[in-house]
Amino acid sequence: MEDIEIGIVGGTGGIGRWFAGFFKKEGYTVLVSGRKTGLDIPTMGKKCQVVIVSVPIGITPEVIGRVGPHMKKESLLMDLTSLKGEPVKSMLKSSVSEVIGLHPLFGTAADSIAGHKIVLCPARTRKWLDWLKEILTKNGADIIETTPERHDELMALVQVLNHLNSITMGMILRGSGVDLVELKRFATPMFHTKLDTIEKVFTNNPRLYAEIITLNPNIHKILDLYGKTLSRLKSLISKRKTETLVKLIQETSIWES
Ligand SMILES: NC(=O)c1ccc[n+]([C@@H]2O[C@H](COP(=O)([O-])OP(=O)(O)OC[C@H]3O[C@@H](n4cnc5c(N)ncnc54)[C@H](OP(=O)(O)O)[C@@H]3O)[C@@H](O)[C@H]2O)c1
Repeated sequence: MEDIEIGIVGGTGGIGRWFAGFFKKEGYTVLVSGRKTGLDIPTMGKKCQVVIVSVPIGITPEVIGRVGPHMKKESLLMDLTSLKGEPVKSMLKSSVSEVIGLHPLFGTAADSIAGHKIVLCPARTRKWLDWLKEILTKNGADIIETTPERHDELMALVQVLNHLNSITMGMILRGSGVDLVELKRFATPMFHTKLDTIEKVFTNNPRLYAEIITLNPNIHKILDLYGKTLSRLKSLISKRKTETLVKLIQETSIWES
């Protein structure tokens, strides 16, 4: 299957470009497109046996809707979106091709796929799933198969809660009026690690983090839990109830002590 042409819509930048490099190294012909470069979206769908959509989350269903109708039954349509529910639904609806949703749980700074996790949501597939798994496994990726719904539920914790927390901390730091240079001079190792995480959210690609949060279907559940937890903590901390806080930390821990 080495003479396969792989088209990546959104392959001119970000994680799409990273995967273009990955598949090229595997010996495949990779065509990439962006808003101003490469083949137009319908041509990409007609020409390539494998099409991967890797564009900002908010426009993903629309872009899938433009490529899907042009894909053949024996082709494979995939996406790299950080959410899986809507994209997989759109791929199934707009095409007759095989459909697999992918979410790499790593970013563009990764040197290789070895040791990194990648979520697969096989949605309508016969021959292509084995092809994909073989490439990923051969290169040392850790494959996790699940449904789009379960993926999005878990990402509400792994990504939404995590980034929401980083944005909250970053905004509080800004609101405190502290000078970053002075803050870093006083940082403990744990705080340095946290600052590095917060810096990524505020400097890398704010739209990506914003869409990961606002477009997750489980966002209201997380916001509700976040708000209730903060109110509960505020209530007992403002009364300086040390022993109650100690007990709460012990009782709510998900780790074995
Ligand atoms: N970045 C990551 O670490 C990461 C990790 C896992 C999953 N993802 C997922 O990967 C997807 C892409 O994210 P990213 O961070 O790689 O984004 P990005 O860096 O902003 O790159 C987006 C790509 O989409 C293209 N694009 C933008 N608007 C387009 C349009 N209307 N039509 C066609 N192409 C368009 C851009 O091309 P031009 O600029 O050339 O127009 C660029 O190639 C998202 O769904 C994200 O959730 C990202």
